[in-house]
Amino acid sequence: MAKDYKQLIKNLDPAKIPQHIGIIMDGNGRWAKKRMQPRLFGHRAGAKAIRKVVELGVELKLKIITFYAFSTENWTRPADEVNGLLKLLIEYLTDEIPELNAQNIFVDFIGSEAGLDEDYLATIHSLAAQTHQNTGMKVNIAFNYGGRLEIIEAIKKLKPDEIEKLNPDNFGDYLYTAGQPDPDLIIRTSGEYRLSNFLIWQAAYSEIYITDTLWPDFDKIAFLNALLDFQSRKRRFGGIG
Ligand code: FPP
Repeated sequence: MAKDYKQLIKNLDPAKIPQHIGIIMDGNGRWAKKRMQPRLFGHRAGAKAIRKVVELGVELKLKIITFYAFSTENWTRPADEVNGLLKLLIEYLTDEIPELNAQNIFVDFIGSEAGLDEDYLATIHSLAAQTHQNTGMKVNIAFNYGGRLEIIEAIKKLKPDEIEKLNPDNFGDYLYTAGQPDPDLIIRTSGEYRLSNFLIWQAAYSEIYITDTLWPDFDKIAFLNALLDFQSRKRRFGGIG
Protein backbone atom coordinates (compact mmCIF):
# COMPACT_ATOMS: atom_id res chain seq x y z
CA MET A 1 0.00 0.00 0.00
CA ALA A 2 1.26 3.47 -0.86
CA LYS A 3 2.58 5.27 2.17
CA ASP A 4 0.96 8.42 3.36
CA TYR A 5 3.09 11.38 2.32
CA LYS A 6 3.36 12.50 5.95
CA GLN A 7 5.14 9.21 6.67
CA LEU A 8 7.49 9.66 3.72
CA ILE A 9 8.41 13.21 4.79
CA LYS A 10 10.01 11.73 7.88
CA ASN A 11 12.59 10.02 5.67
CA LEU A 12 13.81 13.33 4.27
CA ASP A 13 17.00 14.88 5.59
CA PRO A 14 16.00 18.49 6.40
CA ALA A 15 19.63 19.55 5.92
CA LYS A 16 19.61 18.38 2.29
CA ILE A 17 16.45 19.96 0.93
CA PRO A 18 17.18 21.38 -2.54
CA GLN A 19 16.95 25.16 -2.77
CA HIS A 20 15.70 25.33 -6.32
CA ILE A 21 13.79 22.67 -8.23
CA GLY A 22 12.91 22.89 -11.92
CA ILE A 23 9.99 20.82 -13.19
CA ILE A 24 9.29 19.74 -16.76
CA MET A 25 5.60 18.89 -16.60
CA ASP A 26 5.18 16.36 -19.37
CA GLY A 27 2.48 13.86 -20.23
CA ASN A 28 -0.75 15.87 -20.02
CA GLY A 29 -1.71 14.89 -23.56
CA ARG A 30 -1.13 11.17 -22.98
CA TRP A 31 -3.01 11.34 -19.67
CA ALA A 32 -6.01 12.81 -21.51
CA LYS A 33 -5.74 10.34 -24.38
CA LYS A 34 -5.85 7.40 -21.98
CA ARG A 35 -9.21 8.78 -20.84
CA MET A 36 -10.34 9.49 -24.41
CA GLN A 37 -10.51 13.19 -23.62
CA PRO A 38 -9.14 16.22 -25.50
CA ARG A 39 -5.60 17.36 -24.70
CA LEU A 40 -6.84 20.43 -22.84
CA PHE A 41 -8.54 18.15 -20.34
CA GLY A 42 -5.04 16.86 -19.56
CA HIS A 43 -3.65 20.38 -19.21
CA ARG A 44 -6.44 21.27 -16.79
CA ALA A 45 -5.61 18.22 -14.71
CA GLY A 46 -1.95 19.24 -14.97
CA ALA A 47 -2.73 22.63 -13.48
CA LYS A 48 -4.24 20.86 -10.44
CA ALA A 49 -1.03 18.89 -9.98
CA ILE A 50 0.90 22.16 -9.75
CA ARG A 51 -1.09 23.06 -6.64
CA LYS A 52 -0.12 19.86 -4.82
CA VAL A 53 3.54 20.36 -5.61
CA VAL A 54 3.44 23.98 -4.50
CA GLU A 55 1.72 23.00 -1.23
CA LEU A 56 4.41 20.48 -0.43
CA GLY A 57 7.09 22.97 -1.47
CA VAL A 58 5.78 25.40 1.13
CA GLU A 59 5.59 22.67 3.75
CA LEU A 60 9.22 21.73 3.08
CA LYS A 61 10.30 25.39 2.94
CA LEU A 62 11.74 25.14 -0.56
CA LYS A 63 13.10 28.45 -1.83
CA ILE A 64 12.24 28.23 -5.53
CA ILE A 65 10.26 26.01 -7.88
CA THR A 66 10.39 26.71 -11.60
CA PHE A 67 7.58 25.18 -13.67
CA TYR A 68 8.02 24.78 -17.43
CA ALA A 69 4.53 25.92 -18.47
CA PHE A 70 4.97 26.96 -22.09
CA SER A 71 8.03 26.76 -24.27
CA THR A 72 9.05 28.85 -27.26
CA GLU A 73 8.41 25.69 -29.30
CA ASN A 74 4.87 25.15 -27.97
CA TRP A 75 3.48 27.75 -30.40
CA THR A 76 3.70 25.08 -33.11
CA ARG A 77 0.87 23.10 -31.46
CA PRO A 78 -2.65 23.35 -32.92
CA ALA A 79 -4.19 26.80 -32.38
CA ASP A 80 -6.98 25.53 -30.12
CA GLU A 81 -4.47 23.87 -27.80
CA VAL A 82 -2.25 26.98 -27.73
CA ASN A 83 -5.22 29.26 -27.06
CA GLY A 84 -6.50 26.88 -24.41
CA LEU A 85 -3.13 26.88 -22.64
CA LEU A 86 -2.93 30.69 -22.76
CA LYS A 87 -6.41 30.97 -21.28
CA LEU A 88 -5.70 28.32 -18.69
CA LEU A 89 -2.68 30.22 -17.43
CA ILE A 90 -4.79 33.32 -16.73
CA GLU A 91 -7.64 31.31 -15.18
CA TYR A 92 -5.23 29.35 -13.05
CA LEU A 93 -3.43 32.39 -11.70
CA THR A 94 -6.65 34.31 -11.13
CA ASP A 95 -8.10 31.42 -9.10
CA GLU A 96 -4.93 30.75 -7.15
CA ILE A 97 -3.94 34.29 -6.12
CA PRO A 98 -5.78 34.26 -2.77
CA GLU A 99 -4.15 30.95 -1.84
CA LEU A 100 -0.73 32.06 -3.13
CA ASN A 101 -0.99 35.13 -0.92
CA ALA A 102 -2.19 33.07 2.03
CA GLN A 103 0.91 30.90 1.60
CA ASN A 104 3.25 33.94 1.16
CA ILE A 105 4.31 32.77 -2.33
CA PHE A 106 5.94 35.13 -4.83
CA VAL A 107 5.10 34.35 -8.44
CA ASP A 108 7.18 35.50 -11.34
CA PHE A 109 7.50 34.77 -15.02
CA ILE A 110 10.66 33.80 -16.81
CA GLY A 111 10.80 33.74 -20.57
CA SER A 112 11.01 35.92 -23.63
CA GLU A 113 8.64 38.80 -24.13
CA ALA A 114 9.64 39.26 -27.76
CA GLY A 115 6.68 39.17 -30.13
CA LEU A 116 4.10 38.46 -27.42
CA ASP A 117 0.73 40.17 -27.35
CA GLU A 118 1.12 43.23 -25.11
CA ASP A 119 -2.31 42.97 -23.52
CA TYR A 120 -1.72 39.33 -22.68
CA LEU A 121 1.67 40.14 -21.17
CA ALA A 122 0.19 43.00 -19.17
CA THR A 123 -2.53 40.69 -17.84
CA ILE A 124 -0.22 37.93 -16.66
CA HIS A 125 2.28 40.38 -15.20
CA SER A 126 -0.38 42.25 -13.28
CA LEU A 127 -1.65 38.93 -11.89
CA ALA A 128 1.84 37.96 -10.77
CA ALA A 129 2.34 41.45 -9.30
CA GLN A 130 -0.49 40.73 -6.87
CA THR A 131 1.92 38.34 -5.11
CA HIS A 132 4.96 40.59 -5.09
CA GLN A 133 4.60 41.65 -1.48
CA ASN A 134 5.19 38.02 -0.47
CA THR A 135 8.50 36.90 1.03
CA GLY A 136 8.20 33.11 1.10
CA MET A 137 8.72 30.51 -1.59
CA LYS A 138 9.23 31.76 -5.11
CA VAL A 139 7.38 30.15 -8.01
CA ASN A 140 8.79 30.87 -11.44
CA ILE A 141 6.49 30.15 -14.34
CA ALA A 142 8.55 29.57 -17.45
CA PHE A 143 6.31 30.99 -20.14
CA ASN A 144 7.44 31.48 -23.74
CA TYR A 145 10.66 30.10 -22.37
CA GLY A 146 13.51 28.60 -24.33
CA GLY A 147 16.98 28.11 -22.89
CA ARG A 148 18.81 28.92 -26.11
CA LEU A 149 16.80 32.11 -26.60
CA GLU A 150 17.48 33.06 -22.97
CA ILE A 151 21.21 32.82 -23.63
CA ILE A 152 20.94 34.84 -26.84
CA GLU A 153 18.82 37.53 -25.17
CA ALA A 154 21.41 37.71 -22.39
CA ILE A 155 24.25 38.14 -24.86
CA LYS A 156 22.37 40.91 -26.65
CA LYS A 157 22.04 42.82 -23.38
CA LEU A 158 25.79 42.87 -22.78
CA LYS A 159 27.74 46.10 -23.08
CA PRO A 160 31.33 45.88 -24.40
CA ASP A 161 32.88 46.29 -20.92
CA GLU A 162 30.57 43.57 -19.58
CA ILE A 163 31.69 41.20 -22.34
CA GLU A 164 35.29 41.75 -21.22
CA LYS A 165 34.40 40.77 -17.65
CA LEU A 166 32.20 37.81 -18.58
CA ASN A 167 32.92 34.45 -16.96
CA PRO A 168 31.02 31.24 -16.14
CA ASP A 169 30.19 32.57 -12.66
CA ASN A 170 28.70 35.91 -13.66
CA PHE A 171 26.93 35.06 -16.95
CA GLY A 172 23.91 33.93 -14.92
CA ASP A 173 23.44 37.58 -13.85
CA TYR A 174 22.15 38.30 -17.36
CA LEU A 175 19.69 35.39 -17.54
CA TYR A 176 15.99 35.52 -16.63
CA THR A 177 16.90 33.76 -13.36
CA ALA A 178 19.45 36.41 -12.33
CA GLY A 179 20.09 36.39 -8.60
CA GLN A 180 18.62 32.92 -8.10
CA PRO A 181 20.59 29.78 -7.32
CA ASP A 182 20.82 27.24 -10.14
CA PRO A 183 18.39 24.33 -9.80
CA ASP A 184 19.78 21.54 -7.64
CA LEU A 185 17.22 19.17 -9.08
CA ILE A 186 15.28 18.97 -12.32
CA ILE A 187 12.27 16.66 -12.40
CA ARG A 188 10.76 15.45 -15.65
CA THR A 189 7.58 13.42 -15.77
CA SER A 190 6.29 10.94 -18.34
CA GLY A 191 9.53 9.05 -18.89
CA GLU A 192 11.20 11.23 -21.53
CA TYR A 193 14.95 11.58 -21.13
CA ARG A 194 15.56 15.14 -22.35
CA LEU A 195 15.88 18.68 -21.06
CA SER A 196 13.87 20.12 -23.98
CA ASN A 197 15.63 23.51 -23.87
CA PHE A 198 14.76 24.02 -20.17
CA LEU A 199 17.23 25.98 -18.02
CA ILE A 200 20.07 24.67 -20.15
CA TRP A 201 22.70 27.05 -18.77
CA GLN A 202 21.48 26.74 -15.18
CA ALA A 203 21.21 22.94 -15.31
CA ALA A 204 24.96 22.40 -15.77
CA TYR A 205 25.26 20.59 -12.41
CA SER A 206 21.62 19.85 -11.64
CA GLU A 207 20.64 16.35 -10.64
CA ILE A 208 18.04 15.04 -13.04
CA TYR A 209 15.16 12.86 -11.92
CA ILE A 210 12.87 11.22 -14.45
CA THR A 211 9.70 9.39 -13.57
CA ASP A 212 7.24 7.52 -15.80
CA THR A 213 4.36 9.15 -13.92
CA LEU A 214 2.37 11.44 -16.22
CA TRP A 215 2.25 15.02 -14.95
CA PRO A 216 -1.44 15.08 -13.88
CA ASP A 217 -0.75 12.03 -11.68
CA PHE A 218 2.31 13.63 -10.05
CA ASP A 219 1.27 14.02 -6.42
CA LYS A 220 2.92 14.69 -3.08
CA ILE A 221 4.15 11.11 -2.80
CA ALA A 222 5.69 11.26 -6.29
CA PHE A 223 7.34 14.57 -5.39
CA LEU A 224 8.72 13.16 -2.14
CA ASN A 225 10.09 10.14 -4.00
CA ALA A 226 11.94 12.53 -6.30
CA LEU A 227 13.35 14.39 -3.29
CA LEU A 228 14.40 11.17 -1.56
CA ASP A 229 16.14 10.03 -4.74
CA PHE A 230 17.90 13.42 -4.93
CA GLN A 231 19.08 13.04 -1.34
CA SER A 232 20.62 9.67 -2.16
CA ARG A 233 22.83 11.20 -4.89
CA LYS A 234 26.44 12.13 -4.37
CA ARG A 235 26.96 15.54 -5.94
CA ARG A 236 30.53 16.09 -7.02
CA PHE A 237 30.32 19.20 -9.23
CA GLY A 238 33.13 17.83 -11.37
CA GLY A 239 35.37 17.05 -8.37
CA ILE A 240 36.05 13.61 -6.93
CA GLY A 241 33.78 14.13 -3.90
C1 FPP B 1 3.32 18.86 -21.52
O1 FPP B 1 2.37 17.87 -21.74
C2 FPP B 1 2.76 20.02 -20.89
C3 FPP B 1 2.72 21.27 -21.44
C4 FPP B 1 3.21 21.61 -22.77
C5 FPP B 1 2.17 22.40 -20.73
C6 FPP B 1 2.25 22.37 -19.24
C7 FPP B 1 1.02 22.94 -18.76
C8 FPP B 1 0.34 22.56 -17.65
C9 FPP B 1 0.82 21.60 -16.65
C10 FPP B 1 -1.00 23.05 -17.37
C11 FPP B 1 -1.10 24.47 -17.59
C12 FPP B 1 -0.84 25.20 -16.42
C13 FPP B 1 -0.52 26.45 -16.49
C14 FPP B 1 -0.44 27.21 -15.23
C15 FPP B 1 -0.22 27.09 -17.80
P1 FPP B 1 2.18 17.40 -23.25
O2 FPP B 1 1.03 18.16 -23.79
O3 FPP B 1 3.44 17.58 -24.01
O4 FPP B 1 1.83 15.90 -23.05
P2 FPP B 1 2.15 14.71 -24.04
O5 FPP B 1 3.65 14.64 -24.19
O6 FPP B 1 1.59 13.53 -23.35
O7 FPP B 1 1.46 15.01 -25.33
